[in-house]
Parts: sequence; structure tokens; C-alpha cells
Amino acid sequence: RRMPVTVTVTGAAGSIGYASVFRIAAGAMLGHDQPVGLRLLELPQAIPGAVGTAMELDDGAFPLLTSVDVLDDPRKAFDGASFGLLIGARPRTKGMERADLLAANSDIFAAQGSVINDVAADDIRVIVVGNPANTNAAVAAAHAPEVPADRFTALTRLDHNRAIAQLARRTGASVTEISRVTVWGNHSATQYPDIFHARVGDRSGSDIAADRDWLVDDFIPTVARRGTAIIEARGSSSAASAANATIDHVHDWVLGTRPDDWTSVALPSPGVYGIPEGLVCSFPVRSVDGGWQIVEGLDINDFSRARIDASVAELQSEREAVRTP
Ligand code: NAI
Repeated sequence: RRMPVTVTVTGAAGSIGYASVFRIAAGAMLGHDQPVGLRLLELPQAIPGAVGTAMELDDGAFPLLTSVDVLDDPRKAFDGASFGLLIGARPRTKGMERADLLAANSDIFAAQGSVINDVAADDIRVIVVGNPANTNAAVAAAHAPEVPADRFTALTRLDHNRAIAQLARRTGASVTEISRVTVWGNHSATQYPDIFHARVGDRSGSDIAADRDWLVDDFIPTVARRGTAIIEARGSSSAASAANATIDHVHDWVLGTRPDDWTSVALPSPGVYGIPEGLVCSFPVRSVDGGWQIVEGLDINDFSRARIDASVAELQSEREAVRTP
């Protein structure tokens, strides 16, 4: 039997946290032969909720779950952690400006980044889900100088999965026949779901993209505004689908992407595709030996370039807003 690995989940009493931890305990994230110790990190006022979740985890009698700890101290929560799922964040409240939201979250993710730097395991891998996810990940990475920058990622897999689902609906193909979809940029309304390199069965994505009216007026906005549509329909933001995407992201990071396919992950740009170094931008990536590798050399047409540039400009303005003087 393998040694258990420590998985730290922040915001564990929240909606996405609740929808994640049972599937992690069941082996959906790291495989059905990998024992897991869970650390649930919460704010002091939400500790009772996290304790309740821990009680339910006990009641699952999960064979792979070796321990559950509920903590409000990040230093204890990340001590020896191999995975950090950074879901907890400060939500935007009434009267709060975008700059205030960025600043409040920058404080949280700076603190967590520096704790991760100090106490996490050498193989720590981080996924930031809490919004603004890309910039929060950039802030955390900047405060963890001893951790390789590409271990800090942000979630755009939900957008990626949404794009596949919309493409399947449009074409009648099954999701398993769809590959090589890319989400570029920020996890926000400026994101660009790119199907020009996709394959749908034996059809090429650029063939499907030839219907520009559908692409511009339907596909791209439906994917980019799906989060808002979910809020309108259910009265609260996507939770189970976000948890599912978080699990997919870590699963593929550790266990590999499908052959002949790739996925979308936001990670610090190494300066490829004209995207400034260090910006946490969503790219097409493959997982090779447990690390992300950006798929390079894709031909970016003018249509795609303009949309990628617009999302990158937004990422730059977010970075400016959180840069400490
Ligand atoms: P929620 O409000 O239900 O739960 C958030 C939890 O985080 C709360 O229990 C809160 O006490 C906790 N928390 C806040 N600050 C914390 C800190 N510093 N340390 C530890 N815990 C902390 O929110 P929900 O629905 O679970 O969403 C979580 C985040 O994920 C939000 O920022 C949301 O915008 C974002 N999100 C991101 C998506 C993506 O695709 N990247 C998709 C959907 C949501």
C-alpha cells in the first residue's frame, strides 16, 4: 500500500469545498490506489461547518481516507502538504469595487503563498479556484520563491469542459470524440475558448468555426457567460461542476492527459505565444511525467490573436492593481 499524501483544501466549508472532498476521499482525484489525508482549512467563523463536513467524511468510511483535520491555521494546514486546493476567497460584497476585491484577495493569497513556501512538501502542487483565480495564483507564486513557479496553477478546466459540452451539443458528437479544445487567457468573461485546433470525430474544429455567426454570437459568449447563467438559474454559483473541474485538473496533472489530446490550465507564462512572462494565463497543456507542458507551435490566426490579446490585457491590468508599491 502506498503512503498517504496530504491534500489541503481551503474554503472547505463552502459550496465547492463540500462538493470536492467526498470525491477526493473516494479516489476520483489521485486514483483508486492512493490513500489521502485531508486537511480542511477554514476561517474561524466557518470552522463548525467544516467540522460537520469532517463528520460526514468519517461517515463515508472511505477506504482511501486515512485522516481528516479541520484547521484555521494555514501553517498547520499546509505543513507537509503535496496538494493545495485554494478554493476559499473573499467574495465580492455590495459596494465593493473591483480594486478592493483584488486587494483583499491579494492579501489572502500572498499569506498562503508564503506559508506554502515555508512548510509544504517539496512536491507541492497548487490549484487556485478562488476568484480572481489567475491573479490570486500569480500573487501566491510571487510569495513562494522556493517553489517552482509552474507548480502554481489556476482553474480554467471548468471553462474548458463547458466548451467541450457546447461543442458536443452543437455537433451531436459525444464528448469523448472531442479533443484539442483550448481556453486561453483569464478565467473571466474575456476568456477565449478556441476550437480552431479541435477535433470532433473526423471533423476539424476550423471547419465548425467556419460558421462565424454561431462562433461569435453563440459559442464564445455561451461558454464565457456560463457562470452567470448558472447563477441566474440556480440562485448560486456553480459548485459541483467547479469541483468536478478541480478534480479533473489535478487528476490529469498527476495521472496524465489523454493521448492525442490536451487540456487547459492557467499557469505562469514562460513568455510563449507573445504572452508576457509571469502572467498566469490559460494555455493548451499536456501533462508529462507529472508536470505541465505548454503545447507550443500552434498557428494562431488573427481572429484568435485579437481575443487572446484582449484577455491578456485584462490580466495585465489585474496584475497592475495588485502590485505592491
Ligand atoms: P463559498 O462562499 O460557498 O465558500 C467559500 C469558503 O471559503 C467559505 O466557507 C469561506 O469561509 C472560506 N474562506 C474565505 N477566505 C478564506 C481563507 N482566507 N482561508 C480559508 N477559507 C476561506 O464559495 P464557493 O461557491 O465555494 O466558491 C469559492 C470560490 O471559487 C469563489 O471565489 C468563486 O468565485 C470561485 N469559483 C471559481 C471558479 C473557477 O472556475 N475558477 C468557478 C466557480 C467559483
